[in-house]
Amino acid sequence: MNGIVVRAPGGLDQLHMVDLPDPGQPGPGEIRVRIHASSLNFHDYGVVSGRIPAEDRRIPMADGAGVVEAVGEGVAEFAAGDHVVSCFFPHWQDGPAEVSDFKTVPGDGVDGYAREVVVRPASWFTRQPKGFSHAEAATLTTAGLTAWRALVGDDRLKAGDSVLVLGTGGVSIFALQFAKMMGATVIATSSSDAKLERVRAMGADHTINYRQTEDWGAKVRDLTGGRGVDHVIEVGGPGTLPQSIQAVRTGGHISLIGVLTGRAGEIPTALLMAKQARLQGLIVGNRRQQNDLVRAIDATGFRPVIDQSFELGAIADAFRHEESGKHFGKICLEF
Ligand SMILES: NC(=O)c1ccc[n+]([C@@H]2O[C@H](COP(=O)([O-])OP(=O)(O)OC[C@H]3O[C@@H](n4cnc5c(N)ncnc54)[C@H](OP(=O)(O)O)[C@@H]3O)[C@@H](O)[C@H]2O)c1
Repeated sequence: MNGIVVRAPGGLDQLHMVDLPDPGQPGPGEIRVRIHASSLNFHDYGVVSGRIPAEDRRIPMADGAGVVEAVGEGVAEFAAGDHVVSCFFPHWQDGPAEVSDFKTVPGDGVDGYAREVVVRPASWFTRQPKGFSHAEAATLTTAGLTAWRALVGDDRLKAGDSVLVLGTGGVSIFALQFAKMMGATVIATSSSDAKLERVRAMGADHTINYRQTEDWGAKVRDLTGGRGVDHVIEVGGPGTLPQSIQAVRTGGHISLIGVLTGRAGEIPTALLMAKQARLQGLIVGNRRQQNDLVRAIDATGFRPVIDQSFELGAIADAFRHEESGKHFGKICLEF
């Protein structure tokens, strides 16, 4: 069966299609899944580009969606023919966060889903939303669940709240859609006016070009009548967090999610304290939260935004597309 490996020390020219051994039949508690899609995340980019050191011949990609081909003894949750989607933290099933590294994350600490067939514990997957394509389902594992947990897991978004989303990448577009789905007001930023037009068409109430308006935190306060937003989906990191702290309301919530501008930096801690805002680091979420998300999607008819899909063998081109920053929403692999 076909699969992709990345040779150490990484780099998009180090991604190779190889013939992998068939994983065989599932043992007790396991399922055999024919994977049909994955989706790209900035974290996967870190692994394949070599910025995140990984084992030689690592099979990349955290997100995987496909069809159950066989179930092992004792598996009651799934049957052959079911459509399933992988979990980012396979060992974190429920409850408060209990992992702070990527040692068990598929595509990083263990092999991922850039391959046609896997045999894995049933608890490493949830079912897909009804009527989703495999590519749509694959977008949920990392980006979808992160945005969902930020808004309704760690905080309790409610109708009438205001949400600030930064840029138009995978996580931010999910957050925009979830926030609108639940009746919130959304302020979206982007470096591109054309992309801002697209987010307005999706329901964003206010937009700011963060290249043209460098003090966008103050602009967000103006747009909220001086109050600031209830929630910030902070995907930028050190380069954007000072403005996000300006933008959040007193007593508001910042979900610290991303590292798009770097891994460490100077933060106005006194302002954060004065605002009595909660700054919450988070990495994706647990399996119970993914099941909650799937149920919410079934109930609402939500559909994720897919920018473009590539074949498995064109994985390097897919990452080059992500690297270019031209995308809007999710980039997928379908095979
Ligand atoms: N903690 C977690 O659980 C978790 C989960 C998923 C992702 N992440 C992290 O979240 C970040 C976003 O991930 P993603 O998968 O959504 O990435 P992505 O799809 O590659 O997002 C790229 C987009 O981010 C926007 N962007 C880049 N620099 C920006 C800046 N300085 N200010 C505002 N927006 C900026 C750009 O939007 P425009 O083109 O519109 O300007 C760009 O197109 C990454 O750092 C990733 O590692 C964390």
